[in-house]
Amino acid sequence: TGVVTYDPGFMNTANTKSAITYIDGAEGILRYRGYPIEQLAEHSSFLEVAYLLIYGELPTDGQLNDWDQNIRSHTMLHEDLKSFFSGFPRDAHPMPVLSSAVSALSTFYADSLDPFDEEQVHISTIRLMSKLPVIAAYAFKKSLGQPMLYPDNSLNLTENFLRLCFGVPAEAYELDDDVVKALDRLLILHADHEQNCSTSTVRLVGSSHANMFASISAGINALYGPLHGGANEAVLNMLRQIQTEGLEPETFMDKVKNKEDGVKLMGFGHRVYKNYDPRARIAKAAADEILGKVKGGDELLDIAIRLEERALADEYFIERKLYPNVDFYTGLIYKAMGFPEKMFTVLFALGRLPGWIAQWREMIEDKSTKIGRPRQVYTGEVQRDYPGI
Ligand code: CMC
Repeated sequence: TGVVTYDPGFMNTANTKSAITYIDGAEGILRYRGYPIEQLAEHSSFLEVAYLLIYGELPTDGQLNDWDQNIRSHTMLHEDLKSFFSGFPRDAHPMPVLSSAVSALSTFYADSLDPFDEEQVHISTIRLMSKLPVIAAYAFKKSLGQPMLYPDNSLNLTENFLRLCFGVPAEAYELDDDVVKALDRLLILHADHEQNCSTSTVRLVGSSHANMFASISAGINALYGPLHGGANEAVLNMLRQIQTEGLEPETFMDKVKNKEDGVKLMGFGHRVYKNYDPRARIAKAAADEILGKVKGGDELLDIAIRLEERALADEYFIERKLYPNVDFYTGLIYKAMGFPEKMFTVLFALGRLPGWIAQWREMIEDKSTKIGRPRQVYTGEVQRDYPGI
C-alpha cells in the first residue's frame, strides 16, 4: 500500500530481518552468528558450522556427535531416486541434475513436508544434509560413466562425498587428509552469505509455504547462473581461455575495461563487498598451499595472480571498488582436487546448503513473514479497446 519504491536488483531494499550472517561490505567482514569467518575456517569443521548456522549456537561435544551420526545414518537414496540419474543425457550439467533430484525428494518424503511441524522440519533438515552430497556425487559419476558407490557411513559428510566422487568398486579408496581438510574449509567459506540471489530465492519460494525441498531446489537453480555460483566455473574457463589463446593478462584486462563483448573479469566484484572479500583471502591462501603441492605449481594460478595484481592497481577496478570474490580462487583448488569445471558450482551448493536451510527455517519461524510479492512500475499501455480481428 502507499508509495511503491522502484529498486531494481533490490539494491537498497531489506526484505527480511535475520540473525544468521553479518556482513560489513565496506570493511570486508563476514561473521556467522557473530563468529568471524577466519576463526571458523581455521578451527571449526563444516558440520559444526552447519549446526551453528541452523541452530544458532555452537554445538557441545555430544550435540555435534549426535548431529554427525544422524547425518551419517540418512545417506542412502531410495533406489527409485537413483534410477533418476540414468534418465538424463550423459553430458548433463550436474547442477540441473542436482536441483531436479532435490525437487524430487518431496515426492519420496511426501508425508513429512509440513513447514510448521517441528519434527518434519527436523527430518527434512537431516535428509537434505545427508543426501545432497550423495546426489551430487551420483551426478558426477553419471557424467563419468562410472558406477555409483553406496555411501560408507563410517565416514563423515566430507569424507563420504570425496569417496563417492573418486572411489570405484574395484579398489579401496584412500582418503587424502589434506584434501579432506581443504574441501571442508571451502565448504565452511560457502556455508552462508545472507540475502544473496539463491538464498533470497529459497526464502521467496518458501514464503508461499512451499516445502524445504522445493524451496532449496529453486535456490540451486538460482545458484547455477554465472553471475552467482556459476562464477567459479566461469573463472576457470576464463583462465583457460587466456592460457590457450596465449593472451597476456594485460591484453585481457584491456578487453574487460573496454567492455568488449560484455567481457567481465569473472570472480571479481560483489554487490556487498566494496573491499577484499574475506573468503577470497582464505581461498587464495588455500590455493597457494594445495597448488604448491602439485608438481610444478599451476600455470593457471600464475595467470590468476597476475590478473589480480593488475586489477588491484588499475583505475577502472579501484574506482568501482572491484576486488576478488570467493569464486576467484576456489575453482583452482577444486581442479587440483580432481574435480572438472562442471562440478564447481555443485561444490558451492553443498557448502551453501546449511545456509539455505537456516534461512528457510528462520523465515518459517518468523511470525511476521508474509508471502514475498514485489510490486512493479507498470510501463505498458494504460487502456485500449479491443478492435476485433
Ligand atoms: N569485471 C568488470 N567490470 C565489472 C565487474 C567485473 N567482474 N563487476 C562489476 N563491474 C563493473 C560493472 O560493469 C559496472 O561498471 P559501470 O559502472 O561502468 O557500469 C560496475 O562495475 C558496477 O557493477 P554492477 O554490475 O552494477 O554491480 P552489481 O552489484 O550489480 O553486480 C556482480 C555484482 C557480482 C554480479 C558483478 O560484480 C559481476 O558480474 N561479477 C562477475 C561475476 C562474479 O564473479 N560473480 C560472483 C559473485 S560472488 C559469489 C556469488 O555470489 O556467487
